[in-house]
Amino acid sequence: MSACVDIILGIQWGDEGKGRVIDRAADEYDVVARFGGGDNAGHTIVIGNQRYALRVVPSGVFHQRPRLFIGGGTVISLEGLLAEFDMLAKHGVDLRRIAISDRAHIVFPYHAALDRAADRARGENAIGTTGRGIGPAYVDKVARTGITFGDLRNPDMLEAKLRRNHSIKVADLARLDLEAVAAFPTFEQLLATTKTFAERIVPHIVDGVSYIHEAFEGGQRILVEGAQGTLLDIGYGTYPFVTSSHTIAGGACIGLGIGPTQISRVTGIAKAYCTRVGAGPFPSELHDEFGLRLRERGAEFGVVTKRPRRCGWFDAVAARYAARVNGLTDAVITKLDVISGFERIGIVTEYRLGGSSVGVEAMGEPDLKPVVTWHQGWNDDLSEVRRIDDLPALPRAYVAELERCIGVPISAVSVGPERASLATV
Ligand code: GDP
Ligand code: IMO
Ligand code: MG
Repeated sequence: MSACVDIILGIQWGDEGKGRVIDRAADEYDVVARFGGGDNAGHTIVIGNQRYALRVVPSGVFHQRPRLFIGGGTVISLEGLLAEFDMLAKHGVDLRRIAISDRAHIVFPYHAALDRAADRARGENAIGTTGRGIGPAYVDKVARTGITFGDLRNPDMLEAKLRRNHSIKVADLARLDLEAVAAFPTFEQLLATTKTFAERIVPHIVDGVSYIHEAFEGGQRILVEGAQGTLLDIGYGTYPFVTSSHTIAGGACIGLGIGPTQISRVTGIAKAYCTRVGAGPFPSELHDEFGLRLRERGAEFGVVTKRPRRCGWFDAVAARYAARVNGLTDAVITKLDVISGFERIGIVTEYRLGGSSVGVEAMGEPDLKPVVTWHQGWNDDLSEVRRIDDLPALPRAYVAELERCIGVPISAVSVGPERASLATV
């Protein structure tokens, strides 16, 4: 097979099941690469009785074939990365297969402290961030004051940059939360821990552009793993209730240093319903017994923060929008098993505002009214279905309806969290 770059990303508000879909696909690839975000992501993989939660290491790590690459568009905590390395080593993973781009930015403890203090200061307008320092780290990147993994290889430069940033950040933090400053490490402590972490991380740092292009030019197959979801994109999501990176397919080019002409396939992952963690508009949200049932049956609690996820019906308006902004070639529906046992299932097919039909751009309007189309539910156990055409008639019709809504072919449907629980075409 010849070189390719295929992208798999979320087309809702994150947690669509990207980890499980990527794990399932990864043994057909030579490299699996993350392009954005950091440990705000939590990607779950279930293999037999074992459940793994990955934060920044790509979800191909439980196969022998692929190498794993953390691209230049990411922002990564050294401490978090090493904790993940330790977890993986315990499970027998050869860590030498993991590389990180010299262009990736480092998330320091001051970023996380600022993230939490800033979100608290927003009061009732809080975004409900994961508190991992993602936003403040991207702020530094854009302000051109960030510290990259490449800087870890130059101790003098690292020390100078860290000294400057530490004093600025402590002052910033003092303006938001004096108590947080008291608990904050001194510059000397921060430098010492950074240097200790760097010793283990430096051997994994590569020239990220050469890494990805040499793989491609060598005929290798590259699978690109999205984090978060389309509606959390900094430019095209439900701003300002978004993350601080580009989560859409275009972000993969930026985050890996590749061109759009190299991309063959963009697969969008969507749950058979919708969830969202944190604040922000969610037109199909259910505040009733249906919403509670989705949360319970789907075990909808955050991997990173353990927060209960808000739940609602599938949103066809948002899905169609996501198909456009990502240039989807196909889609995968996850968690179809979760909606077995509902007597009827809704799909939000239209938003109405002041007598007109409106799109995703109007999602934040307080008077927006979602229009729900109803589908007959089913009671079948879907967990053993392995081909989409073998689905019983009602769930098969529901999947066909989702396909019509998204406007691209559905290439797989997942019917359980375990690696094998996937129905394909
Ligand atoms: P990601 O961030 O997109 O990788 O998704 P998460 O791992 O945060 O959340 C998805 C959750 O749904 C995890 O707990 C998965 O184990 C689980 N899951 C994924 N696919 C299915 C499925 O088809 N059925 C069920 N019941 N659970 C699933
Ligand atoms: P995965 O990759 C779900 C949400 C947060 C918050 C907003 C901003 O597992 O799908 P941030 O810490 O990024 O500044 O928070 O984005 N968020 C996610 N929600 N899944 C994720 O990742 C998320 N990453 C960030 O809850 O609303
Ligand atoms: Mg997740």
